[in-house]
Amino acid sequence: MDIAKPFPKLIVANWKMNPATYAEAKDLLAAVLEGTKKARGAEVVICPPFVWLTDFSHKTRSVSFGAQDVFWETQGAYTGEISPAMLTSSRVTHAIVGHSERRRYLGETDAMTNRKVRAALTAGLTAILCVGEPARDEDDVARVLEGQVSAALAGVPKQYLERLVVAYEPVWAIGTGVADTPDDALSAAISIRKTVRARFDKKTAERLRVLYGGSVTAANVAPFLREAGIAGALVGGASLRAAEFIEIVRQAGAVG
Ligand code: PGA
Repeated sequence: MDIAKPFPKLIVANWKMNPATYAEAKDLLAAVLEGTKKARGAEVVICPPFVWLTDFSHKTRSVSFGAQDVFWETQGAYTGEISPAMLTSSRVTHAIVGHSERRRYLGETDAMTNRKVRAALTAGLTAILCVGEPARDEDDVARVLEGQVSAALAGVPKQYLERLVVAYEPVWAIGTGVADTPDDALSAAISIRKTVRARFDKKTAERLRVLYGGSVTAANVAPFLREAGIAGALVGGASLRAAEFIEIVRQAGAVG
């Protein structure tokens, strides 16, 4: 399948539940903004914890901001949840959905992920859908991805797919320091596109942006970024180290 290259490389910072304080978060953001000023050519999305998200999104124009999660209802009695419209009306453009840590620690199911993807896309957000096999010895990665992608995209109208990004994040590679190989990540991206092609069509599959995530560092990101079939990276731990994250963005700009 030919992969069109209509977009610059996308680098998403997933800060998770970090750093520990507002003061540290402000310093981290300031350092990242300063360092990425000159790094042109890549698209940068920062996903801080909710508690600081809109403070940052209202004050900053030079990067985009994303939520680490989103709920499926518009408003109402859902204690602790945040709706897609709350995000879009607060200058937040992206939302990570179905991250494996939420699946593992918060009991998120494929059905919940599906509702979140639909709600996020319907509201105009770019949904960053996370999928990936749990164990390294999984012998049928394609089948696992097919199941997760199909479930997450059930009932999603085709025209919304242009705002979908899929992050391939093998669970065994997240936070372990052991990244996948670029070749295997590319095979996974091809499997994901095959599923999208089967459910939608060839053009939609070709245009789909697939990121790699899982122990991405400034030292290992380049070969992932050089693959035309990998649209960028979802960066966890390394996004908390400003200098390293800036270097990842710089490399993405140089390739893009
Ligand atoms: P990591 O996390 O870069 O720390 O492995 C990636 C993620 O969970 O999105």
